[in-house]
Amino acid sequence: MLREPEARDRAAFIELLASPEVHTYLGGPRSRDEVEREMPEAPERWPGSFVVDLDGSMIGQILLRRATGHRRPAAAGKLDLGYLFLPQAWGRGYAAEACAAALHWLAGALPGEPVVLTTQSANTASMRLAAKLGFTEVERFEAWDAEQWLGMWSPPSA
Ligand SMILES: CC(C)(COP(=O)(O)OP(=O)(O)OC[C@H]1O[C@@H](n2cnc3c(N)ncnc32)[C@H](O)[C@@H]1OP(=O)(O)O)[C@@H](O)C(=O)NCCC(=O)NCCS
Repeated sequence: MLREPEARDRAAFIELLASPEVHTYLGGPRSRDEVEREMPEAPERWPGSFVVDLDGSMIGQILLRRATGHRRPAAAGKLDLGYLFLPQAWGRGYAAEACAAALHWLAGALPGEPVVLTTQSANTASMRLAAKLGFTEVERFEAWDAEQWLGMWSPPSA
């Protein structure tokens, strides 16, 4: 289920941001102490920020954000999809199901809006997920000391 973030998700958010496994292809994790200090008691809520809930517990996060400062002109100003799941939930199709639902929500909320996605090309799981969701390659580029893949998704009706 996709839902808004709640105060009871705090521990899962801390785990997501401080997990070395989750951040293997995201420039490394932040220190747990720092994350715990900075994490607000009540999470911010805005349209496009989803918690993925499995049987009443948070297993991941999906973000659809306007990429205002994107370094590639093809992505600047477009909506950007990001996803982070807790390692114990990986490999069961949850990310594919949840991201497809978020894109379906978007197609209803903002009809015709394309979505971009940037991931390290070495991040095999993320690359497979992007392909499965229907993202196609725009370009590859070097940034943050690694090859990055920029993909784009267009809604079915566009
Ligand atoms: C990327 C991520 C969200 C995938 O989550 P997931 O729930 O395991 O994904 P799914 O089970 O829905 O699988 C989606 C596809 O990826 C493939 N996949 C998943 N893990 C994989 C792995 N370790 N190696 C290769 N392929 C993998 C699946 O097989 C599936 O493809 P298929 O249907 O063609 O077989 C998860 O690994 C994650 O949170 N990683 C850390 C955060 C991250 O790197 N995010 C990307 C930021 S751009």
